[in-house]
Amino acid sequence: FPGFGGPQGELTHSVVPPNRKDDIVVPKGYEQAVMIAWGDPVEYGAPRFDVNRLTPEAQAKQFGYNNDYTMIVPLRDERKALLVCNHEYTDEKLMLPTGRYDAKTVAKIGIAAHGMSVVQIERVGRSGQWRRDKQGSRYNRRITAATKFEVSGPAAADQRVGKVAYGTFGNCAGGVTPWGTILSGEENFNGYFDVTGTVPAEYATSYKRYGVPTTVTKSSRQWSIVDPRFDLSKNPTEAFRAGWIVEVDPYEPRATPRKLTMLGRMKHEGATTTITADGRIAVYLGDDERGEYVYKFVSTGKYDPDNRKRNFGLLDEGTLYVAKFTGDGAEDGLYDGTGTWIPLTSDKKSFIEGMSVADVLIDVRIAADKVGATRMDRPEDIERNPVNGRVYAAMTNNSNRGGTFAVDEANPLAKSHVRDTFGGPLVEKSGNRNGYILELTEEGDDAAKTGFFWTLFLVCGDPAAQETYFGGYDKSKVSPISCPDNVAFDGSGNLWISTDGNVLGSNDGIFTVPVAGPKRGQVKQFLSVPFGAEACGPLISEDDKTAFVAVQHPGETDDATFEKPASTWPHTDRFPRPAISCVWRKDNGRVGS
Ligand code: FEO
Ligand code: CA
Ligand code: CA
Ligand code: CA
Repeated sequence: FPGFGGPQGELTHSVVPPNRKDDIVVPKGYEQAVMIAWGDPVEYGAPRFDVNRLTPEAQAKQFGYNNDYTMIVPLRDERKALLVCNHEYTDEKLMLPTGRYDAKTVAKIGIAAHGMSVVQIERVGRSGQWRRDKQGSRYNRRITAATKFEVSGPAAADQRVGKVAYGTFGNCAGGVTPWGTILSGEENFNGYFDVTGTVPAEYATSYKRYGVPTTVTKSSRQWSIVDPRFDLSKNPTEAFRAGWIVEVDPYEPRATPRKLTMLGRMKHEGATTTITADGRIAVYLGDDERGEYVYKFVSTGKYDPDNRKRNFGLLDEGTLYVAKFTGDGAEDGLYDGTGTWIPLTSDKKSFIEGMSVADVLIDVRIAADKVGATRMDRPEDIERNPVNGRVYAAMTNNSNRGGTFAVDEANPLAKSHVRDTFGGPLVEKSGNRNGYILELTEEGDDAAKTGFFWTLFLVCGDPAAQETYFGGYDKSKVSPISCPDNVAFDGSGNLWISTDGNVLGSNDGIFTVPVAGPKRGQVKQFLSVPFGAEACGPLISEDDKTAFVAVQHPGETDDATFEKPASTWPHTDRFPRPAISCVWRKDNGRVGS
C-alpha cells in the first residue's frame, strides 16, 4: 500500500487534553461549526423551532432528536451533498418543558422525533466547512417511528413479521452500501413496548432472550397510549417487526424504505459493507449488549457497479454467519488467535437443527447460542479499513466480564481501572470497563472467507493502568481513551474512534490512531464533545477536508431536566440541543494533520 503510514497520512494534529467543558474542543489550527440541530427545518413547510409550541406535525418535518450515525452521500453538484443521520432516541425530561404538554402529545412528539433525516448540505466556499442548505431540497426527508416500511428477505413470509412494518426507532449506527443506500441499525427496540395484560406463551422464550417484557409493563415513553402497536398484549407480533437493519435510498425521497430480514434480528449497532474478492457484498454486524455476538453476512449475488437498481435485493439472499474467537494462549504476551465465521442460515436453508430459516433470522441470538459462538463485550461498530483490508471492531465495555461471563483471550479483563472523578485516582473495578478495539485479518484478505486471525489492537483505558495496551506503542505518549463505540477511516487508512460513556472522569470524544507504521497504536485525542454527550459519527469526508461529529445527548445526566440542564450546548437556547458539527482546518488542509 504505497504511502500507507507515510508522511502524507500522518496524524500530526495537537492533542486535545481530557476536559469537562460544555463545548466541542478541537486541536490548534482547527475550526468547528454546527451544521444542523434538533428542531431545524428539514421538510418543506417545517415551522420555525419553538420548544414551547411544538406539535407532532411540526416535529415530523423538523430535524429529530439525538442524532447518532451520520453519513454524507454526494450529489452531482459537488458543492452540495446529502447528510443522512439516525435519531436514536428521545429524553423527554431534557427535551420538553416540564408540564407543558399532555401525555398523549408528548408521546406523539417522541414518535416524530425518532427515526432518520435526509438533509441537503452545501460547502462554504472552498473550505472544509459545510452547512445546511437553507433553500431546502426535494431530497429532504424525515423518517419517523410511524413511517411505512416494506419488509424484505426470508422472514417477510413468516406470519410473525409480515410484509409491512411501521416505523423505525432506536437507530444507532449504520453504513452506506456501494450503491449509495443507507443501512441503519434498530438497536434498543425492546424498551419501546408496553404490556397491559398478557402476552402469548409461545413467544415468551424469544421475548426474554431479547429483553422484551412478558409481564405487565409501562415503558418510559408509553407510546401505546397513542398507538396500540406498542401494546404487546394487543399486538404481540409487533416486537418481531423491530430489531432489523433498515435500508433507505436517500436519492429517492418517495421510495418506501425497507427492513432487511436476511441480516438477522438483534440489537443492531450498525451494518457496514465491503466487496469480497469475487465481487459479492459482505456486511459486518454487531449486537450491542453484554455477552452478545459479532455477525457477518455474505451475499449470493455480485455487485453491479454499472446498474444501480440491479443491486437492490442483494442483501436479501446470502448466508449469515456468527463469529467464534479462539485464543492462542497468553505465552506470546498478546491477546490474539484465530477465528471462524460459523454459518447460521442461508436464505434457503437453515443450518440449525429444529429452526427454520425464518426462526434463525427472527431469533438469531438463540441460533447463535446453539453453535458455541463467542460472547463478546458489547459489540458496537465494525468496519473494514479500505487501505489495509483489516476489519476493526469496537467492544465498548462489559462490567459483568469475569462475573456472569467468563474471561477468554478475546475478552480477557475481569478487572480494570476507572477514574470516578475528573483528575481523581485510578480505582479498580470488576469487569472490562474501558473496552477494546479488535483487529481482524480475514483469510486472504477476502471478506467472503470463513477463517480469520484476530488481535486486540487496543485495550482501552488510562495508559497509567497496567492492563491497557496501545498496539505496542509507548504508553507514555498516548491519550487516555475509554468506551470506543464507532470507528471510521480517513483516506490514509488511519483509524478514527468515537467514544460513548467514558469512565475516566472526562467528556467523550474522537480519537485518531495509525494502524500501521512506526506509530501504530499512538492514540491521540482529536476532539472532545460537550458535557454529558457521547460522540457519534465520526465521519471523514472523501477529500479528507472535514471531520463530522454528531453530538448526541448533550447534558444527559441522572438528574438533569429541561429546567435544570447540565449543558446548554450549542448555546442557542437555555437547554441543550443535540446537533451535528463539522470540523475543518483553518488552512483547508487535511484533517488529522
Ligand atoms: Fe446506541 Fe450501541 O450504542
Ligand atoms: Ca496470545
Ligand atoms: Ca453507537
Ligand atoms: Ca454506544
